[in-house]
Amino acid sequence: MSIEYIYIISSYIGSFLFLLGIYISAFFHHLFHKIIGKKIIIHDLESFPYSQKKAYPENKLIITDDLSYYANLLGLKLDTFEIITEDGFYITLNHLYKSTGEDTKDKYPILLLHGLMQSSASFLTSGTKSIAYHLIMNNYDVWLGNNRCGFNPKHVKYNSNNYQMWNWDLIDMSKYDLPSLIDYVMLNNNYKTLSIMSHSQSTSQCVLLFANDFRDNNNNDKYNKIIDKCVLFAPAIYGGSLLNEKLFIKFIRLIPDWLYKLFFGINSFMPILVQLRNLTYKLKGFGFSSYIVFNYLFDWDDQLWDDEIRTIHFLFSPVYVSNKLMKWWLRDKNGFGNGKSIINRDGYWFNENCPKLLLIIGGNDKLVNGDLFINRLKYNEPNMLDNWQFIKINEYSHLDVLWADNIIDKIGDKLLNFLKS
Ligand SMILES: *[C@@H]1O[C@H](CO)[C@@H](O)[C@H](O)[C@H]1NC(C)=O
Repeated sequence: MSIEYIYIISSYIGSFLFLLGIYISAFFHHLFHKIIGKKIIIHDLESFPYSQKKAYPENKLIITDDLSYYANLLGLKLDTFEIITEDGFYITLNHLYKSTGEDTKDKYPILLLHGLMQSSASFLTSGTKSIAYHLIMNNYDVWLGNNRCGFNPKHVKYNSNNYQMWNWDLIDMSKYDLPSLIDYVMLNNNYKTLSIMSHSQSTSQCVLLFANDFRDNNNNDKYNKIIDKCVLFAPAIYGGSLLNEKLFIKFIRLIPDWLYKLFFGINSFMPILVQLRNLTYKLKGFGFSSYIVFNYLFDWDDQLWDDEIRTIHFLFSPVYVSNKLMKWWLRDKNGFGNGKSIINRDGYWFNENCPKLLLIIGGNDKLVNGDLFINRLKYNEPNMLDNWQFIKINEYSHLDVLWADNIIDKIGDKLLNFLKS
């Protein structure tokens, strides 16, 4: 039996045990907080008009993994395109538009990009209160991008049992996936530039691209000129304190390499997660169990969300990612650490062609450290002078910047002003 098969079997068992440990802990964590009745802060959402709206006009929502169903409920259409990256991965891109048969080519294009283990749904699942819907209603041409692998890993040469299918990390996603998505949008729109809205991991992809960390001479600054503006939601440029606090992160971070391989394998990171999601997403307890795990793992909670759609948010994740990517984030000297940046070199990162940046920072976000990025832009980036701004919302955490019920009340107009500036 070859070593790969040993890893496949051991990582199935390892991932299963890891997950079981997390589920049991999450359940008791939830029970404990229910018993001691720990309600921390109750936010008053009543004064925000958007949070009083219904997310979807329909009263009885169907639970489905078909994102176009939710788009249709909003009176929108969602098309899906498959594109191939320069290194041979198939990635999918959604185009969202009003059903009225208008020509979107003459509207300004915006590409929305999701975070780690999420998918293109994340900017849309809040329905009438989502960023994607807000942009459509304000006459932008909206594209929702996915990274490589997603729910259906596909490569021109390799299949999912081949290590080459998983031999990539954030650098490749930044170097190949992001440019392919941009090129596709530019081919299908008459404007010569576009703007990007990114969340969490995709902010890192963008910053690596802007900083030209893998620039080759032919492509020198090409994308900095095509991208006009970029909004970074919960920018994952410097790591936050959560990375040092959470046991499961410490486990992934600190075990020796041989044990990591036995536990998680060498190919995709915990594929059991996607299989479990596929098997259970229609069941009643799916939203609840996803939520308690997420609450236990990251301390994020749903106080600022619309409870009616909590399950919908969880339907479109997790997706397949590589172990190499997870290791890049948590175990590599180039990746993330508390207070450490994703770029590891002296000197400034951005030149004068860097797109204009708007940072949306949650004051309660402990996964990333937005203040350090602000300080960097203020003091250490001489080319950025007036080329950036930020909005900080104190009560928001990492996902509230997308899913809080009052996000459009808080930043809807500011986003539009930024795009027009
Ligand atoms: C999981 O579901 C997605 C659709 O949501 C599908 O594309 C994928 O093939 C499924 N994967 C598995 C392993 O069943």
